[in-house]
Amino acid sequence: MVSDSLPPSAVPTHVAIVMDGNGRWAKQRFLPRLAGHRQGLETLRAVVRWSMARGVRVLTVFAFSSENWKRPADEVSGLMGLMAKALVREVPDLLKAGVQLHFPGDRSGLPAAVSQGLLQAERDTAGNERLVLNICFNYGGRWDIVQAAARLAECGATITEQALSAELALSHVPDPDLLIRTGGEVRISNFLLWQLAYSELYFSDRLWPAFDEAEYDRALAVFAGRERRFGQTTEQLQAPSAAPH
Ligand code: IPE
Ligand code: IPE
Ligand code: MG
Repeated sequence: MVSDSLPPSAVPTHVAIVMDGNGRWAKQRFLPRLAGHRQGLETLRAVVRWSMARGVRVLTVFAFSSENWKRPADEVSGLMGLMAKALVREVPDLLKAGVQLHFPGDRSGLPAAVSQGLLQAERDTAGNERLVLNICFNYGGRWDIVQAAARLAECGATITEQALSAELALSHVPDPDLLIRTGGEVRISNFLLWQLAYSELYFSDRLWPAFDEAEYDRALAVFAGRERRFGQTTEQLQAPSAAPH
């Protein structure tokens, strides 16, 4: 297990995941796409557990994008139903486990029962501190930047990086240290466009329902081996006192 072999500083504080590959996983098994999404939920439950065991403090997952409305109507309504059911079934255990839930995304387009459920789950778990779990739902990176800019414009505020960051949907957490995308595609698909500026990227061929603990540990080990320079040189990192102000 990576958590045994790595110093705590090598564990990412914030892991973000594009949970991709549910549909292909189902297709390989001659199952409906929704069966893949259901199995994907099982993987998420396990990843929450593995994250807590390794000392990850924030986990942010992409569950439904602004663009996923373009999918067939039965898949979209199936995903909405799955979210509604998952809220009822999963929140009590997450509450007990110390997980603080957030659902970054545009609530206005969601069925009322779902948006009510999201709000309630956020309220119920607000006092938890073991792990912050952000489930991005009806989320798009462009939507996020536009809604933040619109809020600043509305109150006539000066637009600075700091002011804009404070209005984004993930303003309650630091930027992701590590982004994992499963499913073999090497793209961002309108996920956290602003927040991923300096995240380390790890692309896995594993389809999300088949993502397992060993593959998660591989991603964490690759992260631990990366040098994060944030624009500086290796030499500067080795002599931090010489870093410019
Ligand atoms: C990701 O899996 C889940 C959602 C986008 C809701 P996909 O459904 O995109 O799976 P593939 O990419 O078609 O295999
Ligand atoms: C990204 O996956 C969105 C989620 C995982 C929720 P998609 O399957 O929608 O991305 P594209 O269409 O392959 O870029
Ligand atoms: Mg996909």
